[in-house]
Parts: sequence; structure tokens; C-alpha cells
Amino acid sequence: MSAAKEGAKGSVAAWRGVVREFRAILPEIPEDAVVTLLEGGTPLVPMPALSRRAGLGLDLHVKIEGQNPTGSFKDRGMTVAVSRAKARGAKAVLCASTGNTSASAAAYAARAGLRCVVVIPEGQIALGKLAQAMIYGARVLAIRGNFDRALELVRSMSEEGSVVVVNSINPDRIQGQKTVAYEVVQALGGRVPDAHALPVGNAGNITATWKGYEERAAVASASGASGAAASASAGARPKMLGFQAEGAAPIVRGARVEDPMTIATAIKIGNPASWKGALDARDRSGGLIETVTDDEILGAYQALAEVEGIFVEPASAASVAGVLKLGAQGRLKGLHTIVCTVTGHGLKDPERAVSVSKAVEKVEDDPEVLRRVILE
Ligand SMILES: Cc1ncc(COP(=O)(O)O)c(C=O)c1O
Repeated sequence: MSAAKEGAKGSVAAWRGVVREFRAILPEIPEDAVVTLLEGGTPLVPMPALSRRAGLGLDLHVKIEGQNPTGSFKDRGMTVAVSRAKARGAKAVLCASTGNTSASAAAYAARAGLRCVVVIPEGQIALGKLAQAMIYGARVLAIRGNFDRALELVRSMSEEGSVVVVNSINPDRIQGQKTVAYEVVQALGGRVPDAHALPVGNAGNITATWKGYEERAAVASASGASGAAASASAGARPKMLGFQAEGAAPIVRGARVEDPMTIATAIKIGNPASWKGALDARDRSGGLIETVTDDEILGAYQALAEVEGIFVEPASAASVAGVLKLGAQGRLKGLHTIVCTVTGHGLKDPERAVSVSKAVEKVEDDPEVLRRVILE
């Protein structure tokens, strides 16, 4: 389970992807069924400038899941789900999607030689994600309803023998996604963060991340982990901090939202499939699930790029927006090391980036003019 294992002569063992790196904690997958793009092993990057902004001497990190092969955290679960589908002799995979699941399912299905069908809410998918599903060769079906309706439709197909649904209602997805927790602890030298923040949409990722921490803690306590850092954190688990967009916050409101609204299309979900998993993660960890406004999401989205050089898609910034908000409210006391999952790459949604940034300036192709403009 390490991104770079030193060999005898200083050579570095290559990362083998989620299934092979984490085989011991995943459901069984025969070697000849493994479908991988060498996902996982994503960087945990410190954010010194945003830590200062959040105050209280925080040690803030982002787990950059946009560096997975299709640009989102979905690949961690998809490698497991598609490998298991292949092992079972499936002919096709099917999903409903706000975009990233469809991109990931389409890529892994292509690699597995399976057909892929994705059902999306028409006109509500960021361009980059749609382009991915299309170029990987998926059949893209757009419905007039929203994501929740698309998922209902897909669920009704979950009993069709040779078609496997690869949304996070498929437990194999959760199994793969839980591996992120193991990577975070490893990157922190065996320490468990005090808190882990995530954007919450369908709530599969917060459910999976918490599962990873819980399972790891149970094994660490049972086996009496060795080493100072390890023994200090054996059995430790972070507080889980989930953030929904204000206009799409069914878990926070305690009721389904019929017409969710947010610029963060990836979390524009009114009836999360893993609702109970998210509540368990919140309650068992002593954490919270709260809202962030679209303005707060966009503020964090721009700050991540401008101050830390990290370009994520808007929904991803909800985790950072939430932590900055709690910091400003003085509600992070007692929490020092905080990890924010940033779930998807910024290039997924280039239109949003262009719309919130300074306009491109036209200049004459004349060195003197250029000099004046640059030095002014
Ligand atoms: C970029 C991004 N962030 C967050 C989420 C929300 O994850 P979950 O639905 O597991 O809560 C998604 C889901 O599509 C996503 O694509």
C-alpha cells in the first residue's frame, strides 16, 4: 500500500492500482478479471496559505482525487465494480450520473471490453465529463428529469442479469472508495487526521471514506500497531465533516429536496442513495454535515486555484469552503490536522473557470505595447 516502495537497490516499485495495492481489504477479484487504469495513489498536498486563512494554526491538506485517471475519485470504486462485473460475466455496465460516474464507468468498461450505458439529466452535465463519456464509447441517454429520477430509472434495471449497475448503490464502489482513508493515514506517516472534510451529493464517498477509517482503526487496535505515530493513532478516527450545497441539502434539512439547485452540478442531488451511510459517518465520528452557499463554493474554488495552484471542479471545493467557514466561525477548536477531499479535476468544467476569471486581454503584437502592458 505505498506509492513508492524502495527496492533493494534504491529502485522504486511502480504503483499497481487500487485492486492490487489493497487486495487484502477488498472483495475477491481473480487476477485475470482486474480492470485497472492504475488509479489511486493520489497526492496529499499541504495548503499553507489557506491554512493561514482558516486560522488557529491549522495543518490543512487536500487529497487531490482529480488526479485519478478519469479525473475524479470515482475511479477508485469503478476499478472494483467493473472488475467484479467482468469476473461475473456481465455484458454491460449501467449508471445514472451527474457526469463523473459516467466518465469513469465508460473508461473502465472500454478497458474491460464491456458495453456502457449512462443516463444523465439533460443539459446538466459539465462539458468535460460529457466529452469523456462520449469519447470512451458509452451510449449516452439524456432524460428531461434530474439526477434523482435518472437513478430511479437505473435502479429499476438492477435485476437484469447481464447488466451491472455501477452507481455507488453497488457495494463494490464503496469498497474501492474506502481505500482513500488508508492512503491518507499512510501519507501522514501513520497519523489519523483530526477531521476529514468532503463534498456530499449522493453520499457514497463520505460513507466509503468513513468505512475505510473505521475498518483501519479496528484492525490497528486489534493488532496493536507498532511505532510511536502508529500506536498514538491505533483506533483513532477523524471527525467526518460533510458539506452539501445550500440549494441541494436534503441531509441537512432532513427531507428530500424535489428540485435541487446549485452551480456545483456534481452534488446537485435531492435524494441521496447513501443518506443513512452519511448520517452514520457523521454520528459515529462526532462530526457534522452542514451547508455551504454557491458563493462560498466559488470563493473556495477560486482561492484553491489562485492561492495554492490547485484547480478543482466547483463541487470539489465544497469541502474546502466548509472548512474555511467553520474556521471563520471559530468552530475548529481542538482540530489541528484536517484533510479535505477535492473530488474532481478543474478541467472537467472549463466553462465555469472561464466565467469566474479575469477576461482575456487583447494586445497588439508589438514589443513596445507588450512591454508597457506588462510593466504598467
Ligand atoms: C466532483 C464530485 N464531487 C462530489 C461528488 C459527491 O460524491 P457522492 O455522490 O459520493 O456524495 C461527486 C459525485 O458525483 C462528484 O462528481
